[in-house]
Amino acid sequence: MPKKSALLAGLLLILLGAVPLSALGESRLMVVSDLHYLAKELYEGSELFISVMRNGDGKLPQCGEELLQCLVRQVSIEQPDALLVTGDLSFNGEKASHEALSRWFGEIEKAGVPVWVIPGNHDINCPSPVGFAENGWYTVENATEADFAALYADFLLPPPAENTGFSYAVKISDTLWAVMTDAAYYRDRAQAFGLFTASHGEWLEKVLEEAGRAGAQVITASHHSLVPHTEFAKESFLMFGHEAMQALLRRYGVRLHLSGHLHIQHIARMDGLFDAALGAFCAYPHRYAIVTVRDDGSMDYEAKQLSGQLLPEGFQEMSKAWFEGVTRDKAAAALSAVEATAEERSAMADYAARFNLAYFSGAYQSDDPFWKQDPAFALWQRHKENAFAKYLLWVMEERTEDNLFLHIPPE
Ligand SMILES: [Fe+2]
Repeated sequence: MPKKSALLAGLLLILLGAVPLSALGESRLMVVSDLHYLAKELYEGSELFISVMRNGDGKLPQCGEELLQCLVRQVSIEQPDALLVTGDLSFNGEKASHEALSRWFGEIEKAGVPVWVIPGNHDINCPSPVGFAENGWYTVENATEADFAALYADFLLPPPAENTGFSYAVKISDTLWAVMTDAAYYRDRAQAFGLFTASHGEWLEKVLEEAGRAGAQVITASHHSLVPHTEFAKESFLMFGHEAMQALLRRYGVRLHLSGHLHIQHIARMDGLFDAALGAFCAYPHRYAIVTVRDDGSMDYEAKQLSGQLLPEGFQEMSKAWFEGVTRDKAAAALSAVEATAEERSAMADYAARFNLAYFSGAYQSDDPFWKQDPAFALWQRHKENAFAKYLLWVMEERTEDNLFLHIPPE
């Protein structure tokens, strides 16, 4: 049924008291970010790669195939109006990874769901992408802007203006536009920062005017943050020029922005403007989000995790243990010179592992007394000069709100 007919039918049913308000004209977006997908042939059989990842940040690129297979099935079950991918598609800009990933996105489109992508800071002109052999690594071809344009031609719209990278606006439905804003900086060589330029501003203002004339609501997306997030990742993850983009969104009544980059599930709130940073898909709990936009202007954002039933048996337990293990090893190394018993050090490292997972997954709530009642918290406080203790205690000072669910009422 076309969306307008569905709206009229829904209104009638509501008047009759037969259906809830939520059943009325709505668009649904699914979002993933920071896939950091590495083509299988670039690491298969390499023990070195596994040990490098074990010293990393909890990413699980060695399970990219299982995760992408699951994503295809999850999208097929969710049946959103579109899947948005907010950058860091590849591990570190390998052309072979983008080639393989574009085939996975093709599989998703076969399930009837359009895929729309923007690059992050690990996708184009990365200086030294590598593949991993049994006991060493070798340089591989990186993806240029032309490669990115060609490989994702089915999942992008042509650049609308000069100097706006791979930015474009896509009409998700009659009443919703998604504005994919490419503020990643990769001219000649990829940089970690993002930059919203005057050219982006001119283009975005035209899009917002046009959407207004068409009576459509707008959701924007970028890889880098638009609004400051946690203390831990406040300034360094914000795109330069964020003030100009914020001002435009406020002027045109845009309230929800989607981002990634932090690898932390976190919703930043700034005077009615929300920036929902999605946790990295490549790390436990393998987040994705569903955004529901209703024709009355209300929106819901919900962070979810890949269904365990769609993953191989034991996968979730393994992935969770991997993420916790990476933190536990780092904490244990930081504690090696601390005066404490082996049992105390072990309890502290376990605590750090559990806490860091809760924090990154968006589940940590600062008003939950559980974390400060744990005896291991007192041990960390006793050693507060330790580098890892500084990180933990600093993060725990933050006041959190709900980082998994957000309801934005009609204006
Ligand atoms: Fe990333």
